Amino acid sequence: MAYPIVRYLIPPPIPEANISSIRVGSVGDFSPETGIIFQFGRIPGILIRLENGQFKAFSATCTHLSCIVQYRGDLNQIWCACHNGRFDLTGRNVAGPPPRPLEEYDVKLEGEEVWVTKRA
Ligand code: FES
Repeated sequence: MAYPIVRYLIPPPIPEANISSIRVGSVGDFSPETGIIFQFGRIPGILIRLENGQFKAFSATCTHLSCIVQYRGDLNQIWCACHNGRFDLTGRNVAGPPPRPLEEYDVKLEGEEVWVTKRA
């Protein structure tokens, strides 16, 4: 008797589309020396606008214990607050416990739109 009610309350599982490319915003949305977190579906990424206006993007999941990293303009590095892990702006792990680099994504500008694409 309760099954139909429970079935109604719990939505059926919907497989998440395998998102490989996403529009993150417009060029004017990002000031130089800032970073933002965006989502490839449920997977977080980080988009960084460098001082020279160039964009870089990486997986935002720390390779140590999966905390979300952030850009630190004062260090000019990507930083993980959980255990002070640090990555340079190529994604290479340079300090602290992270054992591997961050996965780098491609960034393309289409007019004023900023697109991030996972590498195949
Ligand atoms: S989870 Fe990032 S340094 Fe430990």
